[in-house]
Amino acid sequence: MTSPPAITWEIRDGIAIVTLDRPGQSVNVIGRAVKAEFVQCFETLEQDARVRAIAFFSGKPDNFIAGADIEEFVQLGSQSEAERLSADGQDMLDRVARLAKPVAVGIHGACLGGGFEFALACHYRVATDHPKTQIGLPEVQLGILPAAGGCQRLPRLVGVRAALDMILAGKSERAKKAQRLGIVDELVHPALLQTVTIAAARRMGDGWRPRRRRAGGLLLDGNPVGRALVFRMARKQVLRKTGGHYPAPLAALDAVRHGLARGMREGLRREAELFGRLAVTDVSRKLVQIFFATTALKKDAGVDGAPEPLPIRRLGVVGAGFMGAGIGGTAVAQAEVDVRMKDADLQRVAAGLTTARRVLDDRLTRRRITRHQHQRLVALLSGSDSYSGFGRADLVVEAVFEDLSLKQKVLREIEAAAPPHAIVASNTSTIPITRIAEAAQRPERVIGMHFFSPVPRMPLLEVIPGAHTGPEVISTAVAFGRRLGKTVIVVRDAPGFWVNRLLGPYMNEAMHLLLQGARIEDLDRALVEWGFPVGPITLLDEVGLDVAEKASGVLQAALGERLAPPPALAGLVRDGRLGRKSGRGFYRYAKGRKQGVDAGVYALLDRHPNGGPRPGEIVQRLVLAMLNEAARAVGEGVVRSPRDGDIGAIFGFGFPPFRGGPLRHADDLGAARLVADLERLAERLGPRYAPADVLRDLARHNTRFYPS
Ligand code: NAI
Repeated sequence: MTSPPAITWEIRDGIAIVTLDRPGQSVNVIGRAVKAEFVQCFETLEQDARVRAIAFFSGKPDNFIAGADIEEFVQLGSQSEAERLSADGQDMLDRVARLAKPVAVGIHGACLGGGFEFALACHYRVATDHPKTQIGLPEVQLGILPAAGGCQRLPRLVGVRAALDMILAGKSERAKKAQRLGIVDELVHPALLQTVTIAAARRMGDGWRPRRRRAGGLLLDGNPVGRALVFRMARKQVLRKTGGHYPAPLAALDAVRHGLARGMREGLRREAELFGRLAVTDVSRKLVQIFFATTALKKDAGVDGAPEPLPIRRLGVVGAGFMGAGIGGTAVAQAEVDVRMKDADLQRVAAGLTTARRVLDDRLTRRRITRHQHQRLVALLSGSDSYSGFGRADLVVEAVFEDLSLKQKVLREIEAAAPPHAIVASNTSTIPITRIAEAAQRPERVIGMHFFSPVPRMPLLEVIPGAHTGPEVISTAVAFGRRLGKTVIVVRDAPGFWVNRLLGPYMNEAMHLLLQGARIEDLDRALVEWGFPVGPITLLDEVGLDVAEKASGVLQAALGERLAPPPALAGLVRDGRLGRKSGRGFYRYAKGRKQGVDAGVYALLDRHPNGGPRPGEIVQRLVLAMLNEAARAVGEGVVRSPRDGDIGAIFGFGFPPFRGGPLRHADDLGAARLVADLERLAERLGPRYAPADVLRDLARHNTRFYPS
């Protein structure tokens, strides 16, 4: 049985109106079958004497074309197979570009990767001025490059600099920006998309040709010297950002440069060749795995049986401090819910509201929302020093000081003020949810929602059910976290949950290394070179030394001496070195900016930095401390799957994505090797390195965290 076609068309008044609508799928992606239909459709229309021009649309409500079919991409067995795939795509789009009849596309919704490359091959682009319309080339995020002509057509259309901005970052742009850049010819309200696109096709069919400013005429881009400068700067920036760990952006630079120097045909050939090479790299494989993992997580209700999440219309926030205000602001900005904040006095409430509002101001500045939307959203924020207004809250997030009896008292107050159906979530970072819930009338409605700071920017949320939390409370917290734009993992109510559990031994070990004479900068540099966004000492400064000390204390009390922080940490805290927030920690800070290392730290630690262990050992000790703890936590069921654990580490503290996460990395190293390395470290440095039972088991049975 053949499946119904994805591409259909009708001819109206000399204009072929083509619709792509993959049957049974929520989005359009381009795979082999669709490609064959494309080719056939365009051939037929080219020969049909009745057709003068073509107008192309998606049949999906909020999606144009999301890109090439990644499922097909992962099945590629070899470099040459990948190269062929790219060349085929290029041929197909080349035919569109050279078609004897002009093609206008009407874009609404995501127009990404191969979908955008198709639009680039067309002759006129109309897009809706709607937030769902996002245009971009995200390929480098999967460790590959746009390889259906994107590295050639985009720079020819908008100039090298703008093209590189889009290709190298892999970020998508709103239609309005795309219009400013010259990608989109016309911007319309969604209701007018069909009419305007068809009219453009008709005009072109009558001989009219759109006039475009010449990209080559743009300053700098136009002459070879200026262009060389643009490439040099871009290369430098890429190397700074990727630390040389990600080959795709450099390959994309190469493809663009080659095409501009040698012409379209040569450029396409190079693009396909580089695609072939990148497609089979380990980096690309890891990035694609992460993509699949996050996509799967988005569909995961976070609990077996998956009860429908409850609707959240009103949010209460108690504690309008740093975290509470961030949560309130993010909730308004992302989920457009009504937010009521409460703090101990009106002054703090006002400060919290100002901070929350900043999240909206920031979106306005970055033109993510209009002035009108900003006004409407600001009106959703309100606050009080009492629980007035909490009577209609569906969810209340508590973010008061980290103190069990205070949190229990606040929980009782919330239960008294909020309706019985309301869920109470604690943003605690160290206190067991089950302990907090002991004070509850309705413990089944209490849960942990552990946000990370700064809330508007950090992508991860840990949702922590307590011993009595009901399943629909879990699915509601997960669904609401997602509405806030977070990647959500559900973790067990165990000390440190997942993220802080992994960071505990890692940061402790950084202190041990310092005390052994390592230099602060050397520690940070070694881990940044390994792929972390910041090193462990900078991370300590960011987290706050007092916060880290407290968290380590909790881990130590619950899990034993192997998690004990070196006592020196407490000394630094006593000295008032709390990290960035107090203007000094291991580094000095002035006006919020990091200055140099504060040499006074060494005096306080009574150590002369003498270089300490070599970078290789630094990395091994820090990474293995983390991997070992991750293995233990997996053994205790802290995360629901290795997938959640890896995503949590990547999104929670920037574990290098190209290494796939701590558990993938452990698999890559192999359990046997890990156990042997840990045993050697344990012999030298003490029992804190004793290999986790889980690793010993994996080594014994020659198995892995991931089945394959
Ligand atoms: P903060 O000190 O900035 O804010 C706490 C707020 O709670 C203050 O404004 C305080 O006035 C208010 N508060 C205290 N008692 C109150 C009461 N009875 N009623 C109403 N408001 C009251 O602290 P921060 O950093 O926002 O932390 C809050 C919670 O978030 C803590 O549980 C902390 O462990 C957790 N957390 C903090 C992270 C961070 O990086 N700062 C990260 C993740 C969680």
